[in-house]
Amino acid sequence: MKLPLILVNFKAYEQATGESAVALAKIHEKVAKETGANICIAVSALDLARVCSEVSIPVFAQHTDFEGYGSHTGHILPDMVKEAGAYGTLLNHAEFQLEDETLEKCILASKRAGLFVVVCANDPQRAVKVSGFDPDFVAVEPPELIGGDISVSKAEPAIIEKTVDLVGKGKVLVGAGVKTGEDIKIALALGASGVLLASGVVKANDPYSVLMDLVSGLN
Ligand code: G3P
Repeated sequence: MKLPLILVNFKAYEQATGESAVALAKIHEKVAKETGANICIAVSALDLARVCSEVSIPVFAQHTDFEGYGSHTGHILPDMVKEAGAYGTLLNHAEFQLEDETLEKCILASKRAGLFVVVCANDPQRAVKVSGFDPDFVAVEPPELIGGDISVSKAEPAIIEKTVDLVGKGKVLVGAGVKTGEDIKIALALGASGVLLASGVVKANDPYSVLMDLVSGLN
């Protein structure tokens, strides 16, 4: 995985599902091509196969279960996600938290399926705990800042520093309220390897301009 990276979570926003998921994914691809930045997206399981077939940037699932092929009605199988063309998966998001035992199984199954695994954590201590389950990256996001106007970079820079310190460089993404190139610049200066964000891009009137500004923070 090329670092630093910008991972945009489409969540289940209306602007980022169905037809709109494809259109928004293409904007991300355009910015990635124009700038050479590593821009990844995490889309709904319902849009995954379609988005993967339409763009060449890395696409993540927003969750994967741990079951293999078989009688598992309704489960999101890592093997099927890989087969659909996904690059990775996002696990334990603040909006989809898992018990440790389940999380460990999901990480293992996803890695076995060949997916790149990003695991979310609410704080540095939790980041240390989940990094012990051996994901590829840990994304620390203070829940109270998610979807808000103030970024983790500006409101809680100590959380970034502390997580990098505890988990190690080259393994930490940060998120919550990230919207600008300046937010990214601060996060990288504090040792993060990239950012995880959603509303700043998805809810913007002009996602292309926001992405271009975000990319300016990578240099
Ligand atoms: O998954 C990213 C996320 O939880 C942060 O959301 O809207 O604060 O960028 P947002």
